[in-house]
Amino acid sequence: MSAALPRRDFLTGVFGSVLAAGIAVPMRSRAADLTLKKAAQTHELFWGAAVQHMELARDATFADLVAEQCAVIVPEWEMKWAAIEKHRGKPNFAQADAIVRFASEHGLKLRGHTLIWHRSIPEWAKDILGQPGGWDAVATHIAAMLHRYGDSRFIHWDVLNEVIEPNDGRDDGLRASPFLKAFGPDYIPLSLTLAREAAPGMRLYINEYGVDYDGSVERARRAALLRLVDTLKTEKVPLDGIGIQGHLRLDGSPFSETALSTFLRDLASHGVRITITELDVREGDLKMPLNIRDTRVADEVRRYLDVALQEPAVEGIVSWGLSDRYSWRTTPALRQQGLVNRGLPFDDALRPKAVTKAIVAALERRRPG
Ligand code: XIL
Repeated sequence: MSAALPRRDFLTGVFGSVLAAGIAVPMRSRAADLTLKKAAQTHELFWGAAVQHMELARDATFADLVAEQCAVIVPEWEMKWAAIEKHRGKPNFAQADAIVRFASEHGLKLRGHTLIWHRSIPEWAKDILGQPGGWDAVATHIAAMLHRYGDSRFIHWDVLNEVIEPNDGRDDGLRASPFLKAFGPDYIPLSLTLAREAAPGMRLYINEYGVDYDGSVERARRAALLRLVDTLKTEKVPLDGIGIQGHLRLDGSPFSETALSTFLRDLASHGVRITITELDVREGDLKMPLNIRDTRVADEVRRYLDVALQEPAVEGIVSWGLSDRYSWRTTPALRQQGLVNRGLPFDDALRPKAVTKAIVAALERRRPG
């Protein structure tokens, strides 16, 4: 573990060399006395990151960074239905357990992600959802996961993921997913009710994307999500929080501070807590000089967090990965060109960047709750 650097030295020494030189220079990657974890905790927030079990198993330096920078970790895919139950009735928890073990060994908490998601349905389940007994398979999965992972090691569970899709043309703006086609909209309250029965003390979330910018699609998504939350809370369906994924992008999409802050305030008015659950930035032009790219990423995250963190109901931030070394935003096509998307807090050499400083500064601008 690196020696503690005084805070000022950390920020100016580390960031000063990056910003002044405009290129990533070898430097201390972190100081024990200032981490994203501590900066968040100081302002009554938590900082977390999505991780994969093999990253933690094979990359000890990265695993150290996760343990030092994060209070919470989220399995990137290991707890999704298609990863757990490839064969009906034979769930395999080994990869998920490895991440849970890492968290326990390092004193970290976890977010469970995610029980019901249209993009992670086991092949065998796709064939039977619409048949008699289809719901039994779903209910069995929810119960199995929460009986194993529904305890105090977990702060929340994303019971449902990405249930909104206005482009599917429904008046309620719900996604016409295999779950909705098989069970109707009631699959949403049913899933939440089952989850509450399986893990009474767990904070249950619905997790959504595409509500951050101010295009017509985002406005429709926000409106549909607010309607869904209003309906569920009116009907006293167990729902404790909403995850806002926070996948940002540098494509010039319209952004409205007022629209986002009003949306978060309206969500909170329904009595739910809010977590930014998958923060990252998809870059535009990856061939520009690093300092320009990193400044653009930092500015986008700063603008977003300066709004989101002023909402008292926002309780934490999870980045979808901690380092550019492991980001879903670096697609195989980019890697073939030798390019890396630089949208996460630490670069592919595990060094802090302008965005790391921007995150810390945004955390420090949060008004006390
Ligand atoms: C992604 C993971 O990052 C990939 O590794 C996996 O192959 C597919 O899922 N929204 C979500 C996440 O809620 O679960 C998705 O994660 C990214 C989009």
